Amino acid sequence: MERTFVMVKPDGVQRGLIGEIVSRFEARGLKLAGARLELLPEERVIEQYREHREKPFFPGLAAYIMSGPCFLMAWEGKGAVAVVRRMIGATNPAEAAPGSIRGDFALDIGRNVIHASDSPESAARELGIHFAPGELVDYKKIDESVIYE
Ligand code: RTP
Ligand code: MG
Repeated sequence: MERTFVMVKPDGVQRGLIGEIVSRFEARGLKLAGARLELLPEERVIEQYREHREKPFFPGLAAYIMSGPCFLMAWEGKGAVAVVRRMIGATNPAEAAPGSIRGDFALDIGRNVIHASDSPESAARELGIHFAPGELVDYKKIDESVIYE
């Protein structure tokens, strides 16, 4: 089983999309391992997006991510990292497939509603930035026998 870091960005929180987004991951069969609503401090935004630190869009990205609370989540399941990336859709919502979260709920690359880790290595790193050791919950969900072969 794999865990991935997913975050509803401030535009998604303000637009009331947390419930819709959580529902999609639940309906897919993924298991919620942790969640928190939080105004992110700058150090963790820089750490989260460190690969983009020198890019021209970084100051705008950081300001956007800190403009209001984010809803941070850890989701678990078979192939969860790649599955969730496909569910959120392309970075630019204008190119995101209909049916994906960005393809259904966003129009602008700078207001694309949701973040998800892009590899298992990123997932481990990002979960470590945002969740304390022991904060994520290990438990058995009763639907596992009908979701997995
Ligand atoms: P994320 O990290 O937020 O899940 O998004 P992503 O992997 O799909 O895309 P990434 O390349 O990591 O970019 C991170 C976020 O930066 C903003 N961005 N703006 N104006 C631009 O050209 C531009 N490029 C990227 C987006 O909010 C993107 O999600
Ligand atoms: Mg990214």
